[in-house]
Amino acid sequence: MKIISEYDIEQIKPQTPQSAEYLEITKKFRQMSAAFEGAIDCVMGTLKTIEQEMIESGLRIPIHSVTSRIKSPDSTRQKLARHGLPYTIDNVMNNLNDIAGVRIICKYITDIYHVRDLLLKSDRYTFIKEKDYVKTPKPSGYRSLHLIVETDVSVDGENRKIRCEIQLRTSAMDSWASLEHNMRYKSDLPENEQINESLKSCAEALHNTDLEMQRIAQQLGIIS
Ligand code: GTP
Ligand code: MG
Repeated sequence: MKIISEYDIEQIKPQTPQSAEYLEITKKFRQMSAAFEGAIDCVMGTLKTIEQEMIESGLRIPIHSVTSRIKSPDSTRQKLARHGLPYTIDNVMNNLNDIAGVRIICKYITDIYHVRDLLLKSDRYTFIKEKDYVKTPKPSGYRSLHLIVETDVSVDGENRKIRCEIQLRTSAMDSWASLEHNMRYKSDLPENEQINESLKSCAEALHNTDLEMQRIAQQLGIIS
């Protein structure tokens, strides 16, 4: 299991000049980042335990790699604005589930559910909700299983409840999501129906490949 952490430091600085108020909140956000790091460490610790137990039992490891990130102040502000909320530290702490994020890339579709079941057995955090975009993909074609968990993190001696969004997906789902995100993010063009349809059919093609790879692995007895 390869682990990549991005405690998002490079994005702390906003790209464009900002108001004193924005900079003040961003400074507080940065101070709070220890809390979000604590939430990520809690989930990562659970994953390491799961992996260790599998190694000790001689089981196949269903996880390819894991990445984590803390949402940048800039995209946090944009997300709050989408929800009609002002960019305040209270809104950052209380209204968003995905400031802390962990992404788990699984080998096969069935592994997603296996890892989800193992994660939900842990008593290191409280399960809040699940969104299954594998079973029911988003209209864009996006597939992933999302879990929101709530961790107890101590910040300056004070206990805080910090949520973390865990995304579980296969390499094929991840490949589609990162390219599609990149295309949308980079493009200033308005929504284009034909492009949306093309992207969706790429998602379907990758899903069919996932299903076929899973079938082959089953045939070879690698997975049941
Ligand atoms: P966001 O404001 O997008 O975070 O939505 P949300 O908090 O209501 O939750 P949702 O479950 O819709 O999406 C959460 C996350 O899933 C996003 O931040 C993305 O990382 C990912 N995601 C959801 N939909 C798409 C999509 O259509 N394309 C890509 N590339 N990623 C998506
Ligand atoms: Mg998000």
